[in-house]
Amino acid sequence: MKRKDKHFEINNVLLQQKKKNMALVITADGSKTLYSEQFGEHYHSVFGAVNESQHIFIRAGLLAAAEQSTTMLNVLEIGFGAGWNAFLTLQQAPLLQRPVFYETLELFPVDFPTAQTICDNPFFLQLHTAEWNREVSISPDFILHKRQVDLLDARFSRLFDVIYFDAFSPEIQPEMWAFDIFSKLFAATRHNGVLTTYCAKGAVRRTMQAAGFKIERLPGPKGKREMLRGRKTD
Ligand SMILES: C[S@@+](CC[C@H](N)C(=O)[O-])C[C@H]1O[C@@H](n2cnc3c(N)ncnc32)[C@H](O)[C@@H]1O
Repeated sequence: MKRKDKHFEINNVLLQQKKKNMALVITADGSKTLYSEQFGEHYHSVFGAVNESQHIFIRAGLLAAAEQSTTMLNVLEIGFGAGWNAFLTLQQAPLLQRPVFYETLELFPVDFPTAQTICDNPFFLQLHTAEWNREVSISPDFILHKRQVDLLDARFSRLFDVIYFDAFSPEIQPEMWAFDIFSKLFAATRHNGVLTTYCAKGAVRRTMQAAGFKIERLPGPKGKREMLRGRKTD
């Protein structure tokens, strides 16, 4: 076996292990999420997975960005994960009266049987079965582009109105919250576009600021005092 093949095989085994080490968790609002034993962290707040997604990414992110433009809304998500942010955006799309282009990055996709245990809505499952690494039309007003790529290596070919920054926490994955990453995301943000995240740590706020975002500290969802929203104003 060539060295490169061996390396690929080891990586593949590690990926399979990461995928398997998941536990299903019912959160306080009745919606389900996952706990990753590999990363030692929940995919969402245990105070309510859907409630958290609605608060941070839909209301503070998508709807704020929709006020700034009347054309197609370009959304970028960091971490497709269980698919809740994508599903809630899909549900919101008809009300926005313009199409949504939804690009999402995920290095360790959840497998289909696991997705079925989270939510059995056919549209939720359609997001999971959609092919990776190509643009797929899910509805007349929602195009999905799931990219199986490492955020650290990702390059972007469009500007985004809103970025849902939903990585695991800085304690678990500090490399995802680094200055170079926020600079790359700032460059991929449209003028007046926003980036929202559940994290309100001072160090993260300062890194986002240094990358160019103008920061607002907003009230967080249930169980969290604050969240952050960065805006590209220049
Ligand atoms: C908090 S979860 C995302 C939850 C998701 N947004 C949802 O609505 O269900 C973080 C996700 O980031 C993914 N991830 C971890 N490292 C990554 C990397 N280097 N590049 C891209 N995604 C990564 C994890 O596999 C996980 O699915």
